Amino acid sequence: MGLKKIKMLVTGGAGFIGSNFIRYVLNQNPNVIIMCVDKLTYAGNKQNLAGVIGPRCQFIKGDICDQVLMDSIAAECDMLINFAAESHNDNALAAPKPFIETNIVGTYTLLEVVRKYNLRYHQISTDEVYGDLPLDSLAKFDEHSPYRPSSPYSASKASADMLVRAWIRSFGIKATISNCTNNYGPLQHTEKFIPQQITRLKQGQPAYLYGDGTNVRDWLHVTDHVRALYMILFAGRIGETYLISSDCLYSNVAIVKQLLAVMHLPSDFYCYGPDRPGHDLKYALDNHKIKRELNWYPRKTDLTANLAALVELY
Ligand SMILES: NC(=O)c1ccc[n+]([C@@H]2O[C@H](COP(=O)([O-])OP(=O)(O)OC[C@H]3O[C@@H](n4cnc5c(N)ncnc54)[C@H](O)[C@@H]3O)[C@@H](O)[C@H]2O)c1
Repeated sequence: MGLKKIKMLVTGGAGFIGSNFIRYVLNQNPNVIIMCVDKLTYAGNKQNLAGVIGPRCQFIKGDICDQVLMDSIAAECDMLINFAAESHNDNALAAPKPFIETNIVGTYTLLEVVRKYNLRYHQISTDEVYGDLPLDSLAKFDEHSPYRPSSPYSASKASADMLVRAWIRSFGIKATISNCTNNYGPLQHTEKFIPQQITRLKQGQPAYLYGDGTNVRDWLHVTDHVRALYMILFAGRIGETYLISSDCLYSNVAIVKQLLAVMHLPSDFYCYGPDRPGHDLKYALDNHKIKRELNWYPRKTDLTANLAALVELY
């Protein structure tokens, strides 16, 4: 007799991290069947799921704010993992409203169907909810750090996390949250920092840095991230928050210099532009809890090799 199939609703699965997650889960667990709901905004691309949509992965074009649609799909599912979001800081500065709708109202809509059908829920969040650290600080944010978002994007993600926490406490939903650092890897939209630089350099344009380029990010390869998400979903403690990072801290200018070296271009082939308003200086997350509780460790930590592979891919 076969094992009971697990029906997993993945929202935002046609985006960068969601599509990498779907591929990972389908390879990892033959008992999982996926229903992917994605609005296909400019950031979503059905091609990211090429070769995946089929008997074990159904695709439904839809909006997580659509309560009737989400109710009808959730009624048949066991778990829901939410990647759907407006995710680009520059867009949030230009027009915040879609961030409020998808990131806050959308999460609320999902929490209500999770409550109704008693689904296991996981919310994907970001290190940006904690605000930033001084550039020379050696501190890291941990699960107990206060939320101090600085941009419309991070404020909308922080709001969504607060809703999840309240639904856990008030309604006892079986939920977890993870906050992760900057991801990079295959299928990322070219609006994001690393693919944008690779695309510019391949077109013969210099790399482009906001401000003085000294802002520091903690770079996590997407394959390490999706493996962590799978572990949290199946072995994480209900009600907990897990921070995911790979202790790979580099300034933006250092990333650009690595790319220039990988692409055999002059080390000064970059230019500076005006700084992003409210630009966070430095993010760093303490990953001890996920290591200790779930025995998760980052594996793809060779940044130079990972960048070289991406240069080949884009
Ligand atoms: N990429 C990173 O570095 C990073 C870092 C930390 C956290 N995160 C979080 O991870 C999640 C996924 O990020 P990503 O980089 O894959 O983003 P992405 O922009 O590549 O993908 C988001 C997906 O959500 C879909 N979507 C947007 N609004 C929707 C709606 N209303 N209904 C249904 N689908 C909708 C889009 O079409 C797209 O496919 C987000 O919650 C983001 O905040 C990302």
